[in-house]
This record gives sequence, C-alpha cells and structure tokens, in this order.
Amino acid sequence: MKSIGENVLQQFEEIVGVAHALHDIDLVSTYTTDWTGRFQGRTPVVLRPADTQEVSQIIQVASAAGLAVVPQGGNTGLVGGSVPLQGEVVVSTLRLNMCEPVDLLAQQVTLGAGVTLSDAQHHVASFKLDIGVDLAARDSCTIGGMIATNAGGINVVRYGPMRDQLLGVEAVLADGSIISHLEGLEKDNTGYNLPGLFAGSEGTLGIITKARLRLHPHLPERCSAMLAFRTIEDAVAATAQLRHSVLGLQAVEVIFRDAMHLVSHHISASIPVGSHAEAWLIVEAASDSDPTEQLAIAIDNLGSLVLDVAVGQDPATRAGLWQFREKITEAIATQGTPHKLDVTLPASRLAQFVTDVPAVIMGIDIGATPVMFGHLGDGNVHVNILGSDGSEPDERVDAAVLDYVAQLGGSISAEHGVGTAKRDFLHLNRSATELGAFRAIKSSLDPKGTLNPNVLIPPENQ
Ligand code: FAD
Ligand code: MLT
Ligand code: ZN
Repeated sequence: MKSIGENVLQQFEEIVGVAHALHDIDLVSTYTTDWTGRFQGRTPVVLRPADTQEVSQIIQVASAAGLAVVPQGGNTGLVGGSVPLQGEVVVSTLRLNMCEPVDLLAQQVTLGAGVTLSDAQHHVASFKLDIGVDLAARDSCTIGGMIATNAGGINVVRYGPMRDQLLGVEAVLADGSIISHLEGLEKDNTGYNLPGLFAGSEGTLGIITKARLRLHPHLPERCSAMLAFRTIEDAVAATAQLRHSVLGLQAVEVIFRDAMHLVSHHISASIPVGSHAEAWLIVEAASDSDPTEQLAIAIDNLGSLVLDVAVGQDPATRAGLWQFREKITEAIATQGTPHKLDVTLPASRLAQFVTDVPAVIMGIDIGATPVMFGHLGDGNVHVNILGSDGSEPDERVDAAVLDYVAQLGGSISAEHGVGTAKRDFLHLNRSATELGAFRAIKSSLDPKGTLNPNVLIPPENQ
C-alpha cells in the first residue's frame, strides 16, 4: 500500500473534515471488502466528500501526490471493482445524496451520485413516475454506481439498462476539472455522448457526482406469474413467445433447478408450482389497466410448453412469487463465496449453454456446484459457482466457462461489468484494436492513472 504521508492526509482532512477521512481499521473494513467477501483490499484512507467541489479538490491532491483512487458507491458491485485491492484511496460518494425536485414538464430528475436506488424510487413515486432500472440491491446501490456499471436488473426488457435512462452527467475528471451537462435535452447532437461513455466506465474516466435521468410513467396495474417448464428449451421458447405477445411485458426472469431448490430452502417456502421442473420463469406485465387477461391469454397460448402456472395479482401474492427470484443471491451467499459469472448468450445458444455448462465446470472442479438464474428476457444468465464446503472453486473454472461463452458468441459480462474479476478475459470479447481504443481513451482522460487504474482494462503486455 502506498503511504500517503502526514502532509497529504492533512490536506484530505482539510477538504472533507476529520470526521469524513476514515483510517481506523474497524471503520474502513466495510469499504475494503466487497459484497461477496471474495475481494478484500486495504486503503490508507476512505474519504467521504459532501459535494462536487470537495471531490474535485480530493482528486487534485491525489493526482499531485501520485495516488490512485477507487470511487465507491453502495459497494454492491460483484466484480471486485469497488474495493481498493492495490491499496488505493477510497472516495465514497454516499454523502452526495441530494435529490433535486422532479421536473414534471420534462419527466426527468437530477440526482446526486450517492442517492440509493430505493431513495430515488421513493423520490419520484409521489409524482407517479418510476426509475427505469430496478434491482434487488436497491436499498444500497447508488445512482453513480449504477451508471458506472451500466446496471441492468429486472426491467431491461421494457426500459433498457442504465445507459438508456441517462440524459446527462456531472463528473470530476482525473485532473480535478469538472464537466457538467445536466440540461436533459432529449435531442442534443453536439458531439460525443459523454454520459454514454461514463455508463459502464467503472470509475476509470471520472467520478460521477450527479446524473440527469429520464423517468417513466408508473404503471399501477400489475400481474405476475410463475411458470414451470419441463426443459430449458421450453423456457427459452416461451420467453420468445411472451416477448412477442405481451405488450406490457415488464420482466421475464428465470430460475434454474439448483437455484430454485436452494432459494426455496433459504426462504423456507415450498416451490409454488412444478416442484420437479427444470426451469421456472417469473413473468410480470404492467399497465395502466389490469393486464391479467392479456397475460393469461399469452400464457394459455404457450399450450403444452408450460407444466404449471401460479398467478399473483395482489401485491402480497406477487411479492411471494418474486421472493423466489430476489432472494437467490442472498441464498447463494449462505453457502460460501461463489465465483459470479454474469453472461449473455444469443437466444439460439441459451439452452445449449445452460445444459452444457455444469459439465464444463465439473470437468475442472468435480466438487464445484453451479447455481444458475438470470434475466432470460435479455438472454442474461448468472452462473454462480460454489466450491466444495463453501470454499472458492478452482479458479480455472472461470476461464473454462467464459471461453465457452465466447465460443457460443456470447458476452462475458452482461450487466455486472468487468472490474478485476474479468479483466484478464476481456480479450475474449474485444479485439486488440478495440482494447487499443480503450487504452487511448483512458490515457487521454487520465494520463497519470489516478482513477481506478486496476480495473476493466488489462495491462498492455497481456
Ligand atoms: P459500487 O459497488 O460501489 O461500485 C461499482 C463500480 O462503479 C466500481 O467500479 C466503482 O469504482 C464504480 N463507481 C461507483 N460509484 C461511482 C461514481 N459515482 N462515479 C464513478 N464510478 C463509480 N447488478 C445488475 O446490473 N443487475 C442486477 O439485477 C443486480 N442485482 C444485484 C443484487 C444483489 C443482491 C447485489 C448484491 C448486487 C446486484 N447487482 C446487480 C450488482 C450491483 O448492485 C450493481 O453493479 C450496482 O450498479 C452497483 O452500484 P453501487 O453503488 O453499489 O456501486
Ligand atoms: C441478480 O440478477 O439478482 C443479480 O445480478 C445478482 C447476482 O447475480 O447475484
Ligand atoms: Zn442480474
């Protein structure tokens, strides 16, 4: 860990105040360990700035002292990109939590980067508006972190990922200068789309301090259903049909057998339908008028593809079905420290991948257990791999699975990002020329390597 020296620490303390420059080992531990417990780092100091100016001053001091910085929001990231694995300074955005008034004329809002998703949802709810991205980490993940990872979640089939919600950002660049483009114009072809560049940049190009987001009318009438399938192929085929026939489709999520049995045990609830099925879909339709009939007709048209169905119309029954999907990550964490591989496959290869991947994993580590679920409407499968007795699996399983994904024409990161966990595999999806362009962008915006220099882009000699 690079020592920061009394003088630099004092400068940091003068910027944020002594109470917001943390170095006590007990106080910093939640900032240095990731959500899964797999990635544990160390840091000389965690800084908690109150506004954009303080972020700017911190970066100026860090840059002058040659210190690297890891921006951190809710620390719910799953690819080891939010923690200081190389002894970096941590800049926590949690105090950048201002919500500006909702702009009803434009149906937009400007939010501080440290606002949590659930606070953002509550802030816009009284105007009958929604944030387009929703995910189970909503109480902790932040708007800045969601932009930096281009988060996906459960409603991508309807609204797209975080990048699609983004109309503008304010951000501090690697020399401490500030860019701010928050007017929220829906049409603005004045050159490069910098907000789009920040989406998925994982803290490597700037620290996002505010964002202007597009909002969506809240759709109060909802119907959810759990569908059980005999085969993975049937679940994939049903997903295609539902995407085609349900106009108000809000979510199509999948739970495969091992994940279903694990979560059912974890929440102490029996599987609602098809206890011997191979796969289950959780489907939701949302509209301003009751979508139940439309969803029921669409499910009926699936005919013998479906083994059995449970429908939830009232909020309590719907929540009861959704907990089988939303509690899986937590259920896996009770079993040990998984390797979390988050991949997308072309629709035509999804069933083949899900069927074959357990053998790919166990061919390397016979004691490993794959647990799979995901966002089937987006072709996104979460492959979680637990080692025997809760230990991590043989690390070669990551390469085997990701190689197979690339072989089938898929992406090695659907929504979690690259971080440190997948950095060495980026060449599977990105050509040498693309990686060269990434490096050119990074080095022109951050020539000294101040901002999260150890994530996303592999070193040139690899
Ligand atoms: P962090 O974890 O703090 O940071 C993530 C990355 O963003 C790091 O590289 C960090 O340096 C960078 N960063 C953070 N804030 C800023 C900023 N202001 N400026 C620049 N860079 C920044 N993800 C999905 O996509 N879909 C899901 O459905 C989903 N479900 C989840 C469910 C659970 C239970 C958990 C634990 C995680 C889930 N995630 C999901 C992963 C995670 O919640 C997302 O990646 C989320 O976007 C991270 O937000 P965060 O504020 O916690 O960011
Ligand atoms: C999810 O969809 O629940 C997440 O992306 C979290 C995970 O992969 O565990
Ligand atoms: Zn997910």
